[in-house]
Amino acid sequence: MAQEMVRPDRERMIWRGVVEEYRSFLPVSERTPVITLGEGKTPLIYAPELSSIKSADVYLKYEGANPTGSFKDRGMTLAISKAAEEGSQTVVCASTGNTSASAAAYAAKSGMACVVLIPEGYIALGKLAQALIYGAKVMQIKGNFDQALQIVRELGDNSEKITVVNSINPYRIEGQKTGAFEIIDTLGRVPDYHFIPVGNAGNITAYWKGYKEYFQKGVSSSLPKMMGFQAAGAAPIVLGHIVEHPETIATAIRIGNPASWESAVQARDESGGTISAVEDREILEAYKFLAARESVFCEPASAASVAGLLKTDIEPGSVAVCVLTGHGLKDPDAAISQISVPEAVDATYEAISRELGI
Ligand code: F0G
Repeated sequence: MAQEMVRPDRERMIWRGVVEEYRSFLPVSERTPVITLGEGKTPLIYAPELSSIKSADVYLKYEGANPTGSFKDRGMTLAISKAAEEGSQTVVCASTGNTSASAAAYAAKSGMACVVLIPEGYIALGKLAQALIYGAKVMQIKGNFDQALQIVRELGDNSEKITVVNSINPYRIEGQKTGAFEIIDTLGRVPDYHFIPVGNAGNITAYWKGYKEYFQKGVSSSLPKMMGFQAAGAAPIVLGHIVEHPETIATAIRIGNPASWESAVQARDESGGTISAVEDREILEAYKFLAARESVFCEPASAASVAGLLKTDIEPGSVAVCVLTGHGLKDPDAAISQISVPEAVDATYEAISRELGI
């Protein structure tokens, strides 16, 4: 039998997940059992069409390439690892969908039970399927995300055995900040602008923390402007008050009272950036543009970052990164509602060539 070729640098090519790869920046010790699915190292895709429109270099950080299809995995690997270290047996979260899918997957990997509370009727099909197939106890509530989070906080307060794995759990933010490290490590520089959707506001908080840590440790020498975007019907930070009945096509960010509100405002102000609103129409345009022109399929909420870029004046010649937070296949109904599914034709050469005008 021929001997297998082993590349000398093979070991360095194996990505071990964000906790091992960025261990020195994270609150872990030898005692922490690292629960990983190999998350992180997501593609940073150059976007020629957007770059041309903006006369800038635009990159897409495609977080849909994570193991459960969203950026939540970066924080969940750490939150679940720490919950396991602390001896927790059950984790719980409120979710618009992606957090529940990620929590369910990592909990299953660790052997912990997982309970998720989701708003009935407002969760994309792919996400619901994931939470169920990974084996979580899924409870649909007759209310919205904000109400679900309130109940989850109470569950966490009233039982020491239950760990809350929403982004109010600081380990989630710690894990998610590795997205900023990866952008700098891949680009070899700090972007001038960082465009990001804002829902519960954990991710903008996490990215800003990551950018600041690399800067403070001398790894990088500048900081980006943080450009956050909420859906217009769910834009409490932009409006400056809680939205009791948030509404948007982008169900992932259908949130009226974000848990990390203050730290999002801090990220905006410290970085000299903005948090603005994008209409559902603008989100859907960006969503379709990304798939048709850049060949990147993300979910509607993710496209809020690009919708924001399209309506923002940025310095010509600058570098901008837009985070695309979740995979397009999470929400197949959203895609199908934007196109018309073709009718079936006869299974003959004649029928097909007639359709094609040959
Ligand atoms: N994009 C997607 C695809 C999301 O799922 C979320 C949040 C966000 C953006 C906003 O990020 O909350 O950190 O500001 N989803 C949460 C969930 C709320 O339950 O899956 P954020």
